[in-house]
Amino acid sequence: MGDIDARLGRVRPAPESFLTAEQIAAVKDGRRDFLRKAFLAASAMAAPAVARAAGEGDPAILNLPPWSTSLGLPVAANPYGTPSKYERGLRRRESPGLTRVGGSSVAFTPLQGLFGIITPSGLHFERHHQGWHDVDPSKHRLMINGLVKTNAVFTMDDLMRLPSVSRIHFIECGANTGMEWGNVAVPTVQYSHGMLSCSEFTGVPLKEILDMCGADYRKGRFVLAEGADGSSMTRTIPMELIESGEVFVAYGMNGEMLRPENGYPLRLVVPGVQGVSWVKWLRRIEVGDKPWATKDEAVHYIDLMPDGLHRQYTSVQECKSVITTPSGGQLLLDKGFYNISGMAWSGRGRITRVNVSTDGGINWREARLETPVLSKAVTRFNIGWVWDGKPAILQSRAVDETGYVQPSYGQLRQVRGTKSIYHNNAIQSWKVIESGEVSNVQVL
Ligand code: MTE
Repeated sequence: MGDIDARLGRVRPAPESFLTAEQIAAVKDGRRDFLRKAFLAASAMAAPAVARAAGEGDPAILNLPPWSTSLGLPVAANPYGTPSKYERGLRRRESPGLTRVGGSSVAFTPLQGLFGIITPSGLHFERHHQGWHDVDPSKHRLMINGLVKTNAVFTMDDLMRLPSVSRIHFIECGANTGMEWGNVAVPTVQYSHGMLSCSEFTGVPLKEILDMCGADYRKGRFVLAEGADGSSMTRTIPMELIESGEVFVAYGMNGEMLRPENGYPLRLVVPGVQGVSWVKWLRRIEVGDKPWATKDEAVHYIDLMPDGLHRQYTSVQECKSVITTPSGGQLLLDKGFYNISGMAWSGRGRITRVNVSTDGGINWREARLETPVLSKAVTRFNIGWVWDGKPAILQSRAVDETGYVQPSYGQLRQVRGTKSIYHNNAIQSWKVIESGEVSNVQVL
């Protein structure tokens, strides 16, 4: 922390965080010059004010603002609170051109603007195969069938009367960072890593429900989870995961009911496993004696290997990390002290170490892990850095409690090739050039 003696550097956010939707549309239409001008205009606005020397007379102190001299708004003026209007640039965004229809698409979480480990519910990423619905909870049912003594149907009321657990876990789509297998494809961390969120979920362990139905755990070594949306999302989950007690059917997220986009009123939580298995609008669990090999596990969500074969059922999200500040699209306005901050997570347990390099992987320093450090949850890391104005490459490398070390692109491609979509957990590199611009690069 001694580095703070250096002058504090200022970061300007990535353009999407301070341009309006219309301005972004204009940029997408190819009016690039407009973007440059908007950047210049916005830089004054977006840059944090420089601290003045004492006695210089800062008008922000000398002149009393309206909020110090007038009556504020009454309570409950906004019965369900929303963020400040000054924060409206921070939002989920679709990656332009990624998919053809919004009903089968992704909205990415703005990781660059988040603190700590919890994703605000309104910024949780979205991935739908056939759009989302605001399902009427009084009409929603969870059916249990297959290798059980008693088939059963639960209403939401039934489920919410059972003993519940609340646990903090990350959810990451298996396709997160999937556009970057071959080379750099997207400019900011929102698009490179934003299919990641972390929340406190509340619900009932699936084991308790299967016990109530008399599941045959000897023969029934798998369950099939099915969603109620039009995509007929179905995924096989091995029974060991359910027997561990970790898998639960959740109705709560961050202290309130799930948001409709995230599966309201019921979704499966499968800690450590890729997002596709976290079936939303969960309507059926079938106990069976073998994997089902449904479309979402035989055709999609499989790993294409360099020899042309596919790997199936590679569900666990391996240890991964990313620096969120400074990151792609941001601009360092000064030489001086920066707090490098980022997120690390592992589908196999706790994060035990994160190393950070500012010279493209030649030298590494150990970052501070902020508490809480939870199993199968995001861990926040921070480390100080004094930027001397010279080119730098910022990287983070996480290690989990199994000793697994996050691989470089070179190491990952040696085993997996470059043609895959899923499970890219390579070390992310952000390049800083003399002008202070930060961009996405790949270091082997
Ligand atoms: N469940 C249903 N029923 N339908 C879906 O389209 N998408 C899956 C999974 N569960 C999906 C689903 C995928 S691919 C992911 S990554 C996660 O939900 C995304 O969850 P989120 O939208 O809450 O972020």
